[in-house]
Amino acid sequence: MEKLVSLCKRRGFIFPGSEIYGGLANSWDYGPLGVQMKINIKNDWWKKVVEERDDMVGLDGAILMNPKVWEASGHVETFNDPLVEDKKTHKRYRADHLIQDITGMDVDGKSLDELAAIIKEKDIKSPDGNELTSPRQFSGMFETTAGAAGEGKQVIYLRPETAQAMFVNFKNVLDTSRKRIPFGIAQIGKAFRNEITPGNFIFRTLEFEQMEIEFFIEESDWEKQFELWNKWRLNWAKSIGINEKLLSFEEHAPEKLSHYSKKTTDVMFKFPFGVQELWGLAYRTDYDLSQHEKFSGQNLTYTDPNDNSRKFIPHVIEPTFGVDRTLLAILVSAYDEEEVNGETRVVMRFKNNIAPYQIAILPLSKKEQLSTLGKEVFNNLNKDYRCEYDETQSIGKRYRRQDEIGTPFCITVDFESLEDGMVTVRDRDSMEQTRIAIDKLNSFIQDKIQ
Ligand code: GAP
Repeated sequence: MEKLVSLCKRRGFIFPGSEIYGGLANSWDYGPLGVQMKINIKNDWWKKVVEERDDMVGLDGAILMNPKVWEASGHVETFNDPLVEDKKTHKRYRADHLIQDITGMDVDGKSLDELAAIIKEKDIKSPDGNELTSPRQFSGMFETTAGAAGEGKQVIYLRPETAQAMFVNFKNVLDTSRKRIPFGIAQIGKAFRNEITPGNFIFRTLEFEQMEIEFFIEESDWEKQFELWNKWRLNWAKSIGINEKLLSFEEHAPEKLSHYSKKTTDVMFKFPFGVQELWGLAYRTDYDLSQHEKFSGQNLTYTDPNDNSRKFIPHVIEPTFGVDRTLLAILVSAYDEEEVNGETRVVMRFKNNIAPYQIAILPLSKKEQLSTLGKEVFNNLNKDYRCEYDETQSIGKRYRRQDEIGTPFCITVDFESLEDGMVTVRDRDSMEQTRIAIDKLNSFIQDKIQ
């Protein structure tokens, strides 16, 4: 993990947030390569989830919503974690995680009183060896206020999930898109959670991005649709370069289920710090639409187009994906070290669709003629591929850099190129070098990048 964090900083994937001011705990800024990878992940997901399907549409809901949304969704009442505080250092911990780490006991779903009793009985102390306060509920939702101070000031929340905008807009989408169930709404956007114990780089942060789907179905169809999305996400994981061998599935025990879910199966990933949740898949029943119908007083029923007298509240399957965790799983999967001529070569084996750059154009020297030809090659390729042009440092150092940022192809332009109109294409993984005519480059690369 340390190697990965340091590579991400050194090469421009991910920087500590607000670094010149000493940082802000657990906040991260995505650098030139990190933001490109996040865009590639989101574009790939959006294309496959929305653009390539006729039973899906997109939405971009507001981050700030009417606070009643979060009352209806159950978040105001239940989106809490049990918090304990070290009486001396005032460091805060999730009581359930602390007990689990120290005793190995599974305490999911235990009440505050039960947790307090376990802490007392097992004499559980903080990691610094100090007494702990009694557990209390701590809201995971960030609060802020809208409107000028005084009259009209209203407490509102930063959304802890993107999901609710899709439920709240169910009727709008249904009435305007002409979709009939089964159909889904997809959304990508930021979510915010006041996590008690964030950490492990970008794995758990206070601010993160989600890609979520609410798939509206008939109740009788839920098991079939659940399984279809389960398969879909496994295939997608492979297609973006997540190592299948590091994946597993974990079904939530009944006492661990979220308040809205009848069945949840997480995709787990073996991160360097342990096997942890990567993505979720939940059968949310008709909970959300029913709640919104109740709280808003609006009719959110669906009319069967084949039988107008049949009206019902659709059920929902929700596949949910964290963008940041997806990126972390890709980084972990791609990281590789190998011995080449007695030296260690670090190489990020990204898939072509996700790599920040697909091609690097590297003139062998800064001489004007080579720069001109190099720029010509760059300008010919950068309409179709993500390209970088680099003429600084020795070619060895430039190859090393491109390996570390996972560029699948490097094209070197040399003095012979000026004579014979050919360049050398180096394959990142095999390090094989192929001499190819400049006017054949596009089709050569196209075949490889498909
Ligand atoms: N709408 C359902 C929902 O939000 P979740 O399991 O709480 O379900 C979905 O979150 C996904 O969002 C997770 O599987 C994970 O990928 C990501 N995620 C959740 N909390 C996160 C955090 N604090 N930091 C980064 N990613 C997080």
